[in-house]
Amino acid sequence: MMSSNTEPRHFLDLTDAGADAIAAMLADAIDRKAARTSLPKGQADADAPLQGHILALVFEKNSTRTRVSFDIAMRQLGGSVLLLEAGSSQLGRGESMADTARVLSRMVDAIMLRTDDHARVEEMARYADVPVINGLTDRSHPCQIVADLLTAIEHRKALPGLEVAWFGDGNNVLNSLLEAAGLMKFNVRAATPSGFEPDAEFIEMARSGGSNVTLTHDPSVAARDADVLVTDTWISMGQADAQAKREAMEPFQVNTARMSEAKSDAVFLHCLPAHVGEEVSEDVFDGPRSVVFDEAENRIHAQKSILLWALGRLS
Ligand code: CP
Ligand code: NVA
Repeated sequence: MMSSNTEPRHFLDLTDAGADAIAAMLADAIDRKAARTSLPKGQADADAPLQGHILALVFEKNSTRTRVSFDIAMRQLGGSVLLLEAGSSQLGRGESMADTARVLSRMVDAIMLRTDDHARVEEMARYADVPVINGLTDRSHPCQIVADLLTAIEHRKALPGLEVAWFGDGNNVLNSLLEAAGLMKFNVRAATPSGFEPDAEFIEMARSGGSNVTLTHDPSVAARDADVLVTDTWISMGQADAQAKREAMEPFQVNTARMSEAKSDAVFLHCLPAHVGEEVSEDVFDGPRSVVFDEAENRIHAQKSILLWALGRLS
């Protein structure tokens, strides 16, 4: 148990943990997943390491996977969750993030927040005495990328030197993928329409960590000999659904032609929810190289390791 005067381990972005801790999380997730294959999904792991711990799940945006996977993750670790949604809590009536953080810190052991403006998760962390985990902001989605790395490794894609290709919008998920690339030493080719590139700060993080980052407007350049192909919705939560953006994104659809440019054993990832027929064709989404439902399941196994790290049970 962490003492009350220890700085909490927040997980607002992947760099908060760093390369060694992410490697430890991935190894732990692989071991824990393997150790419970025959257990019902709601049964705790044999060691129940977070018995008695409670996680607050705070949502200011919609979610299916993040909400369910954190809940199941806590049950499997022996703990429990409570759910706070903006519309039914005082957050929705303007109570400050600072006061919410100070109150929740007296009542729970850790907080997960999904919100729009990244400054809100930073404010939560500034005032919380317990770990705060970023469950997605407009800027980044670090928990998703831990699950994506786990999925890649499971499909025999060792991270160092891996060629990961991204297609479409330069959004929060791509930002975190770039951050991971710099930490875990894989390469990213991001094919986006002009004006939809990822944030310069994340490109710099990747490059300064030694990752080769290719930014292109030609999806074939990204796909050629790639090991992993990734895309996401063209219109993220909170973004205007502009026809001009949809038209700009159309050439970046991941389809059979695009997959055929990649390595023959390349896999397809999508964080979901997907818009089949838009960013990905139906034959790729439901095809043999799509591992999107492994990826979705891996949200549970990744969240468990993130929680164990945040609560000081993993170094
Ligand atoms: N991938 C992901 O974060 O899904 P949800 O929005 O359903 O949580
Ligand atoms: N980029 C998407 C990811 C959803 C999990 C969004 O922010 O809506």
